Amino acid sequence: MKSTGRCRAHTNIALIKYWGKRNEELFLPMNSSLSLTLDAFYTDTEVVLDDDLDSDEFYLDNTKQGDKETQKITEFLNLFRNLANIETKACVKSYNHVPTAAGLASSASAFSALAGAMNQAVGLNLDLKTLSTFARQGSGSATRSVYGGFVEWSMGEDDKSSTSHAVPVDDAKWDIGMVVIAVNTGRKKLSSRVGMKQTIETSPFYSSWVETATSDLTKMKEAIKGHDFITLGEITESNGMKMHATMLGAFPPISYWEPDSVKAIQKVKEIRETGIPCYVTMDAGPNVKVLCQQSDMKKIEELLLEDFNREQIIPSTVGEGIKLLNASEWNY
Ligand code: ADP
Ligand code: DP6
Ligand code: CO
Repeated sequence: MKSTGRCRAHTNIALIKYWGKRNEELFLPMNSSLSLTLDAFYTDTEVVLDDDLDSDEFYLDNTKQGDKETQKITEFLNLFRNLANIETKACVKSYNHVPTAAGLASSASAFSALAGAMNQAVGLNLDLKTLSTFARQGSGSATRSVYGGFVEWSMGEDDKSSTSHAVPVDDAKWDIGMVVIAVNTGRKKLSSRVGMKQTIETSPFYSSWVETATSDLTKMKEAIKGHDFITLGEITESNGMKMHATMLGAFPPISYWEPDSVKAIQKVKEIRETGIPCYVTMDAGPNVKVLCQQSDMKKIEELLLEDFNREQIIPSTVGEGIKLLNASEWNY
């Protein structure tokens, strides 16, 4: 017997960052974080549970993945199989409409889409909150991609897995978007997982990072309530820079930046000085994201074109939460 589930999840970019786990096994974060889901980047994933399979199979962008990558999928699917009390193996086919492992949050859309697809394949009918706690255990940032718009991932209490999940923050319509400046879309050398662990273990700035991220989050939620884009942008830029400063303090020092990252940051500052509000943030990769008002996006793109190529500039509006795809929507 075969049973199929298909799901699309969009990536999300953190405005208040997650950079470290207090429990690695359960993916419980050191601090709560807050993100914006993006429309332009997503992952589509199909799970086929098949009694005839002897082991799980995993294809990413039509390429069969090796044991290490497949093992990660197996462990993740086991969360669902244990709950459903089944052992049926799965064939997983996933397609990234986002560069993989480049600091553009492929792991976020990946595990959120996998959670949605597996939920459908198993027929568990888990609610979004439970899917968010499951997605978290594939990749922390994936907990937020279950929802659209502004999303908060609450760090949860003690070591109970069920209390750390995402919630949508604000359903008001915002004039907001993000322009990605693609500096390098190749695979990073140091994964987010290893980078954050090394930072916790060796950066003397780490405890200050957690303190400041916590107070930044409180201020950002106030700014969201007050519909205050400028304050939102200022906190976003400051929080992202503080995360990178904390990494630089690690031993050996960690930096995901490239010369063009600096060029992009300086350009955004110049654009801001012309009176257009726009703010940068960066994740575990060299690419720069510009938080801006959607109504300013065209103008910002034009100005960025003075220094970057057309292909390097990818505008995005706000994305929605996970969505099941039926057979006619599956065009692979
Ligand atoms: P990113 O900045 O892209 O999130 P990470 O280092 O956090 O980079 O995660 C990249 C890893 O996420 C990949 O090496 C792979 O293990 C996993 N990943 C990415 N896309 C998928 C996918 N569609 N399905 C399953 N796993 C994926
Ligand atoms: C810098 O969620 O990719 O993008 O939980 O180990 O899979 P794992 O890491 P991941 O880390 C994301 C780090 C970040 C900030 C963020 O998205 O909050
Ligand atoms: Co990631």
